[in-house]
Amino acid sequence: MQNLKIAVTKGRLLDESLTLFEKMGLDCKPVRNPGRRLIHQIPNYPLQVVMAKAPDVITYVEHGVCSMGIVGKDTILEQGNSFYEVLDLGFGACRFALAVMDGFDFYGDYKKRRVATKYPNVARSYFLSKGIDVSVIKIEGSVEIAPLLGLSDGIVDIVQTGGTLKANGLSVIEDIRRISARLIVNTAAMKLYKPEIFGFIEKCRASLA
Ligand code: PRP
Repeated sequence: MQNLKIAVTKGRLLDESLTLFEKMGLDCKPVRNPGRRLIHQIPNYPLQVVMAKAPDVITYVEHGVCSMGIVGKDTILEQGNSFYEVLDLGFGACRFALAVMDGFDFYGDYKKRRVATKYPNVARSYFLSKGIDVSVIKIEGSVEIAPLLGLSDGIVDIVQTGGTLKANGLSVIEDIRRISARLIVNTAAMKLYKPEIFGFIEKCRASLA
């Protein structure tokens, strides 16, 4: 049986990814106590877990150096997809939303609006679908700061608990779409290692059910 690699997103999705693997019977002790090591062999299953940042999970899977990956739909929507998205894993659930400073009327006049976001492609296609011309400003993180400093009229961002928006005096005015973690598979690997990958997907599906 081929020893496959799965790239897993570090940060918020890691713990729930490992909980899923443990439900599938995989021994995740080495990944739970990683030290500074970034690639870990699962002792009782032919799988190596590669811990990477979300956009890099997609890069490794697209290039085929990892056969599979776990990544948020937010990153998939932003980066595009030339891989198979095989399962909605359900966890990491949050939403894309348009938020503004409390009480601000985003559509109040005909001035071109400025929107700050970590997800410029998602924001552009959202406003394009509404037929509204906006300027999109790319921010790398903590995007809630942008309207507070007067850089933008609003933000397009992921909202989970809503705590960050609330703490910064912002509120959602439009929900854009629901997002969650997805299992993705390299297209060539799907053919080359079909029994291994189908076996893994089925185990995942059974543990989610
Ligand atoms: C995300 C997102 C919001 C926050 C939303 O940022 O961009 O800032 O989480 O979560 P909440 O609704 O539960 O408050 P993240 O923590 O990933 O950091 P970043 O903004 O620096 O990328």
